[in-house]
Amino acid sequence: MQRSDVVQAILDLYEAPSYLEIGVETGETFHAIRAARKVAVDVKFAFDLDAARTAVAGQDVHFHECPSDGYFERIAEDDRFDVVFIDGLHTFDQTLRDLLNAIQHLRDDGVIVIDDVLPPSYAASLPSLEQNIAFRKARGIQPIDWMGDVYRLVFFIRDYLPGFSFATLVENHGETVLWRGTRALDAAPRSVEQISRMSFADCQFHRDDFNITSFDEIMKRLRGR
Ligand SMILES: C[S@@+](CC[C@H](N)C(=O)[O-])C[C@H]1O[C@@H](n2cnc3c(N)ncnc32)[C@H](O)[C@@H]1O
Repeated sequence: MQRSDVVQAILDLYEAPSYLEIGVETGETFHAIRAARKVAVDVKFAFDLDAARTAVAGQDVHFHECPSDGYFERIAEDDRFDVVFIDGLHTFDQTLRDLLNAIQHLRDDGVIVIDDVLPPSYAASLPSLEQNIAFRKARGIQPIDWMGDVYRLVFFIRDYLPGFSFATLVENHGETVLWRGTRALDAAPRSVEQISRMSFADCQFHRDDFNITSFDEIMKRLRGR
């Protein structure tokens, strides 16, 4: 399932949705998305920004070429989004900041989608792109997508954001969807320090913590809120 299919299906739950994408790259998802208002944030867009701005002239579509932290520093305090897609720098620290900032600007019935939470290999799960490249070079492994340690964010959500329900869809490389809804903590929470040391192996051993769910079921839950 394409990222844009997931995001669009969620956006279609709203009448005139406002959409924010953190980490846009070529715009494969962003350009395909239909929403009343669209905001793109990337430290360096991988397309001609002037041409993209010209193509959407007169529409409520905005491009911010800056780090996500800088974008959230400048955004109006009362700016709100229905759907936020977090797909910027693939580290636990950065995605945690992106998530907390996104929550500040999420409508009460809004939804956040976090990409790259289920790394398919140890190399993909390494916390920095430099480590990923060095490891692959040392082992002679072909390039594969780097997902970083975003998976740690799901363990954090489970233990530290009980005001949000979440599920991770199985139809693609792993995306966690979260929405407001009180949830009981069903196990003793880990310390933040423990979470920051969790590993690729923990993704396999603690698979249940991701609440892996079909996309159809996630959509049912979103509609039933
Ligand atoms: C995986 S790509 C995004 C793919 C895109 N969402 C899609 O679905 O096609 C990650 C992007 O995040 C951007 N990025 C990295 N660090 C960032 C940061 N701190 N703030 C904003 N964007 C960042 C990179 O420049 C890159 O274009």
